[in-house]
Amino acid sequence: MDPFQCAGWGQKHSAIRCLRPGTKACKGCYLVMYCSKDCQAAHWPVHKVDCKNHIRKSDWRPAWEVENRVPQFIDNSDEEHTPVAMYGGNKYLWGNVPALDLLQLKENEGEGYCQDLSLLLAASGDLRNLVKTIASLPDRYRGYIHLDINDRDDAVVARNLIFLLVSFNLPPDIASEAILHLWYSAFLPEPLLQSIRRAVCPTIRDFLAAKPVQAAGLLQKTWSCGSSTLAATLTRAEWDRVLSYLPEVPDISYDKAVTLHKSVTLAHSRRDYRDRALFPLHPSWRLSVWKFRSDGILLPFGVSREDFRVPNPTLFHNEHPWPMPDSADPLQGWTLAEVLHASYGAKHDLYGQLYVHIKRYLETFCKRLHTLKLNICLFKKDAMDLPDKLATLRGKETFYDRIELANIADLGYLGPAKTLALFGPLLKSKKENPKATLIMLFLNATREMSTAGDQLSCMPRAMDTLQRFLPMRPRHGVPTNKYNADFLNQMDALDLFTDNDTLFNRLIERARFRDMGSFLGLEMKVDNSIVAKWPMRLGENPTQHEFEMVFWSGHTGCERYVEWHRVV
Ligand SMILES: C[S@@+](CC[C@H](N)C(=O)[O-])C[C@H]1O[C@@H](n2cnc3c(N)ncnc32)[C@H](O)[C@@H]1O
Ligand SMILES: [Zn+2]
Ligand SMILES: [Zn+2]
Repeated sequence: MDPFQCAGWGQKHSAIRCLRPGTKACKGCYLVMYCSKDCQAAHWPVHKVDCKNHIRKSDWRPAWEVENRVPQFIDNSDEEHTPVAMYGGNKYLWGNVPALDLLQLKENEGEGYCQDLSLLLAASGDLRNLVKTIASLPDRYRGYIHLDINDRDDAVVARNLIFLLVSFNLPPDIASEAILHLWYSAFLPEPLLQSIRRAVCPTIRDFLAAKPVQAAGLLQKTWSCGSSTLAATLTRAEWDRVLSYLPEVPDISYDKAVTLHKSVTLAHSRRDYRDRALFPLHPSWRLSVWKFRSDGILLPFGVSREDFRVPNPTLFHNEHPWPMPDSADPLQGWTLAEVLHASYGAKHDLYGQLYVHIKRYLETFCKRLHTLKLNICLFKKDAMDLPDKLATLRGKETFYDRIELANIADLGYLGPAKTLALFGPLLKSKKENPKATLIMLFLNATREMSTAGDQLSCMPRAMDTLQRFLPMRPRHGVPTNKYNADFLNQMDALDLFTDNDTLFNRLIERARFRDMGSFLGLEMKVDNSIVAKWPMRLGENPTQHEFEMVFWSGHTGCERYVEWHRVV
């Protein structure tokens, strides 16, 4: 269990802050920890606002029901109302599917495998797969690991480079804290931001100063740390842009940033949409979610936020005020059941548990940079051009043990045929590594293949299970609103019961997956060995707990992984 500061701080009429570690959780909410009964009692006037918050009551109901009106997500005819799907920027800076260990050596090449490995993350998004993969390697692995990491989005690439430079240049305990907050927190402590700037900016500036200003084309810079290296290959303009994410003088004041952040995460026009998402959750989780939405700082609930006063410059950039949609949620990038396993004493502090979970992975990752032999290469290309650019840059093809394509094979991105034709040939031959795997993710395929008839056919099974796990509760007092929250809750859960196999098989047939594969000497694995085909799917005959883990995770169960290997 990681010790955290006692929540006894900021008492009314007193500036005293208890610096002892919190060891006992409040039994009312399990959101905060105290060092002692005395501290808990002294802090009660402050804590009772949270502990007795109406949102934590088991009979809490969404505002549209209480006010007996049509919820905004149904009636958005009013000009001021934004469509349900999008509010805020449109960047993916926190992934929306849980991190993967892309190697799973034990289940694939074997725990004792010692040959070199090379991995390609062609549309990486953030670094969670890299962090989890490296942190999950068996202790005894001693080979070289080559990693090509690419994304076409400048904020994604700049942030990933900044995170990695921090991990290369600061000690693991500070680096992991710095990366965690740069990644997920809207505000940072000033000294932490200073350390980050010192670790990142001078080295890039010195490198650029040594290059002629007019230098056209790509500029590559390599750093090393222990036995690992980090290289980034960018144009001069792209290098300058990386620096623009850590400006000397902040682009925005603290007060303006607070207002801007809240204008997205707590937008009045979106309150029914938020209530709808909060409603099914465990009561204490609702408050934990609410707190993260309110202050944007990823920390245990009871830890002081006083020092977090500087806007995170990698999020508040002058060109995109708040870059993410209001649905963006750090929890979606990690496996809920594992997050809850992190378990520090405040067991219902959902975002506190997430903090502990990510912090552990980051610390292991940062430590391993010093002992493993990693060659990390960053690129900012469209995936379409990446194979050619890499071959030209290196004068030869690179072949990989793992190729991870996120969901660019979805029809809305490059589609399966183009993606497979581009990246399939880069997979190592069966002779070199029979376990070499290309991993595709489909997020939208089953919805794209589904007809109204399909949606109806899953109803009987769905309704039986939903009556068991999400029963309609009787209302007292006010007449039941037509848009009863329990009913909407059941509707939201319907996706979990779709017959996804049938729908996905339709895509496999229509897009001729098998023909595409055999043309390229590839085959879809019958059984996946890196990530389950449907990792977020509700199993047959789920228990209440299994149902909650899937439903509360915010995933739909329609996330489908396809793994390919070489035939020869
Ligand atoms: C496909 S998006 C979708 C979100 C994704 N499911 C996740 O969890 O991060 C993931 C990343 O792919 C990047 N991306 C999308 N299309 C790309 C392309 N053609 N080339 C390179 N990167 C791409 C986006 O910039 C984004 O960072
Ligand atoms: Zn205390
Ligand atoms: Zn409490």
